[in-house]
Amino acid sequence: MRYFNCLTFIKFKYIITFIKFKYIINGDNLDKVILAFSGGLDTTVCAKLLEEKYNLGVITVCVDVGQPKEEIEKAKNVAEEIGVLKHYKIDAKEEFANDFLSKGIKANAVYEGYPLSTALARPLIAMKIIETAEKEGAVAIAHGCTGKGNDQFRFESIIRSMSDFKIIAPVRELNLTRTEEQDYARSHNIPLSPDSKFSIDENIWGRSIEGDVIEDPKNEVPQEAYEWVKSYTEANSSPEKVNIKFEGGVPIAINNEKMALIDLIAKTNEIAGNNGIGKIDIIEDRMVGLKSREVYEVPGATLLINAHRGLEELIFTKNELRFIDFISPLYSDLVYNALWQEPLREDLDKSIDYMQRRVTGNIVLNLYKGYISILSRESKFSLHDIKQISFEDKENDQREVEGMIKHHGIQATIYQKQKH
Ligand code: ARG
Repeated sequence: MRYFNCLTFIKFKYIITFIKFKYIINGDNLDKVILAFSGGLDTTVCAKLLEEKYNLGVITVCVDVGQPKEEIEKAKNVAEEIGVLKHYKIDAKEEFANDFLSKGIKANAVYEGYPLSTALARPLIAMKIIETAEKEGAVAIAHGCTGKGNDQFRFESIIRSMSDFKIIAPVRELNLTRTEEQDYARSHNIPLSPDSKFSIDENIWGRSIEGDVIEDPKNEVPQEAYEWVKSYTEANSSPEKVNIKFEGGVPIAINNEKMALIDLIAKTNEIAGNNGIGKIDIIEDRMVGLKSREVYEVPGATLLINAHRGLEELIFTKNELRFIDFISPLYSDLVYNALWQEPLREDLDKSIDYMQRRVTGNIVLNLYKGYISILSRESKFSLHDIKQISFEDKENDQREVEGMIKHHGIQATIYQKQKH
């Protein structure tokens, strides 16, 4: 009897070990981590590191904010090839346009000349990752950001303010260089499609280009870096007029064709890009204090923000215009500096929304070889009074202004007189 018990126990232990082993191999019983995934070098190396060094089961998530379809496909294929537990593709394009880019347009959000294409997408990507982590019962969230850029701040501030997930940043934690990542990939048979030599981040609002020869401001940006915006020589040879209709601060139609914001942005990218509009080449001040040479292709954003600001001139009072030009850089700083969660960002959005209810009307612009000029604008909320400003007007009696002039600059007059 004793002998039998002992044997049963040994058998039982063996079965348990076997089951454990099987699950470890499958990764099913490992704690799960959700990795924001693009299938590029950084995130692919991260996926392997998370398994190997952190002993976690990896679930990859690719959030579609309008990157090229091939990239979304690539993320799925790479995830499959390296054998992650599960891969998610989340389409967030419309949410990105309606809940983030519309705010960027209304605020004329531009940081040091950059319309924040990458910066505006990061909060939404992080939110989608959190949702997936909750759904999957993960213990941690991981990202592939290096310790030099802004995106690590943007992802982590959203994750910390909206959840309690542990955050893992393997590239930063292991202080990896790009060459070390490539070596690791090679030694672990990680399939890597030849990445562009530049570091590219693309979504419907723009294309950010960094790295390689661009890193040194002494170098010119090679033409091959650009994909969306034509060079001056290749741009359309005759000017193109474009009519943009705004309602409540948001563009709703282009050349009288009504369309969803996401489609309208795609259309303006095409039109402005064909006219050589939207190449930005700046020395940008990063959050960590480093200066960085950054290149962007933002044709649609450039056109829409110019159009929007142009329409505001007609509608807002002088004081309102001073106010929006004051808060716009403030708003842009918050977005750039990973402070989407700041109460001030929400406060500003509320004020902006209230003001923007009047930003309704049409504006026609002329596009030609990188230049944008405004041809005409109209709005039912226009504060421009054609009758009063006209040289032909008699009703607004010119003589009435005399008293005002006498008093204008009275302090300056007294001061100048004292000098003599
Ligand atoms: N400098 C920009 C920003 O901080 C863009 C960063 C984009 N990343 C890239 N891999 N090109 O928002």
